[in-house]
Amino acid sequence: MQIIPSWSALACWVCVATLCLPASLAARQTSDTVAPQTTHTLKPQTLVSAKQFMVATAHPDATQAGYAILKAGGSAVDAAIAVQLVLGLVEPQASGLGGGALMVLWDADKQQLVALDGRETAPQAVTPDLFLDELGEPLQFMDAVVGGRSVGTPGTVALLAHAHANYGKLPWQDLFKAARQLANDGFVVTAHMAEQIADSADSLRTFPATQQYFFTPSGKPLPAGFVRKNPEYAKTLDVLAKQGAKGFYQGDIAQAIVDTVSKATNNPGKLALPDLAGYQVKPREVLCVDYRQHEVCGMGPPTSGTVAIGQILGMLSHFDLKKLGADNPQSWRLIGDATRLAFADRGRYLADSDFADVPVQALLAPAYLKARAQALHGEKALDTVAPGDPLPKVSQQWADDAALELPSTSHFVIVDAKGNVVSLTSTIENGFGSRLMTNGFLLNNELTDFSFKAAEDGVPVANRVEAGKRPRSSMSPTIVLKNGKPYMALGSPGGPRIISYVANALIAQLDWGYDIQQAFSMPHRINLFGRYELEEGTSAIAMQPALEALGYEVTTSTMTSGLSGVMITPQGLLGGADPRRDGTVLGN
Ligand code: GLY
Repeated sequence: MQIIPSWSALACWVCVATLCLPASLAARQTSDTVAPQTTHTLKPQTLVSAKQFMVATAHPDATQAGYAILKAGGSAVDAAIAVQLVLGLVEPQASGLGGGALMVLWDADKQQLVALDGRETAPQAVTPDLFLDELGEPLQFMDAVVGGRSVGTPGTVALLAHAHANYGKLPWQDLFKAARQLANDGFVVTAHMAEQIADSADSLRTFPATQQYFFTPSGKPLPAGFVRKNPEYAKTLDVLAKQGAKGFYQGDIAQAIVDTVSKATNNPGKLALPDLAGYQVKPREVLCVDYRQHEVCGMGPPTSGTVAIGQILGMLSHFDLKKLGADNPQSWRLIGDATRLAFADRGRYLADSDFADVPVQALLAPAYLKARAQALHGEKALDTVAPGDPLPKVSQQWADDAALELPSTSHFVIVDAKGNVVSLTSTIENGFGSRLMTNGFLLNNELTDFSFKAAEDGVPVANRVEAGKRPRSSMSPTIVLKNGKPYMALGSPGGPRIISYVANALIAQLDWGYDIQQAFSMPHRINLFGRYELEEGTSAIAMQPALEALGYEVTTSTMTSGLSGVMITPQGLLGGADPRRDGTVLGN
């Protein structure tokens, strides 16, 4: 454990908490001669502690920007804005101005939780057949992703402005400095970003502006260590700093977004100026579930995150995972099958509740979850898993949705000196979103989080495409309360696996007593739909024979979560970051 006393300790802290970054920071280069490195082995990561405030993000530049704002007396929301503006530059594959975000906030003044929805919306001109071909068949996923068709009305800028108007302390313009400077002077491409560019190289070549940005002048994917400048992003920031969200949702930037989408050479889309001008942040219901004398809190639809996590934990509360232990295959049978049951309900019921009748309270009712948990009392893997019947009135109303979400996205947590806490997950959906770029930022492909099929055998799918609707998400910005006060805040990227990354980290802490860093470093074992996935290159794969003996098909795969979080203890703040990415924690 390490106390971080001041900003001047940053150099030392960077060595401890980010591990590989000093090398890339030191080795700034603009040539294209260095091959991208791979980063998939788990790096050791150290718990970071502090007394007053803390910021944990997926990138050291973003963490530094948030830290500087907190040090200057800014609120957690002020720091969140600075962090997000930097993330959109230095981690463009994951989140940015062209995407959407969900924020859960602990308001220390009012001693209450608030949930804000900045999710993208479907343009008014779309119809439920958006992702069907001329024969009425669903498009191949990547055919739908690349281009204007998948672009929803971005919500992140509106969310940041809304949060600042209500919870900001420093002037709005002051929050842009770090991102602006990095955009003008250049930021260092990390090994993780370089790997992502190389992996997506073909699709990034679809559009000239995107190709120009993510490739060297000689046409190679940007390598780790490359210094990328983004003067267009700096100009965009100047407009937003001066005009606020209006500068994004109206005027030249809005027009450029619409032109980029509607004139895309691949898959032109239907986003229009009124979609942007009419975009609204929505306060959402805060949902809390009891688990091991804590309240695990997040938000309701359009995300499925908190409902699914609440269901998993609600079912597992009937079993003594502490006694069984973390290395026991029976613990993982219970966790895996509880997750499968939750995902079956998610596929049937979860969607934007402004458009579909989502039985949130019934899905989280203790009696319903106790009944669902009955299925877990055997000793072998469940043969079949089907959606439950939480509320007969709606059970037959919807068909199952198999929408695919691919892992990208970013999560950060900030605790300020007053005790305000921000837990924010931000996304452009797929890595590099729609691949369309304008004004220095990428546009999302969030609409592919909808079900491509509007109905199954004539029964409508709750998460079907509808004008103005928000696609179902798995994002799970979480704040855990103990005795009514914040105890821990966390979240992760990772598409639908977000739900397991967060639920399993909660179990590691609340059942097995892991500290937050140990919980994030725990090798992943995930079962969403029947097949057990074990994290490649980790000790988790030793459990393969035991899980197979329980009846599971087992595979190993790389799982690049990006957990970030902070625990708030009587002794101070403890922060953790995911060893699988460039996550860093800084506090004072
Ligand atoms: N697009 C990722 C999510 O919303 O869960």
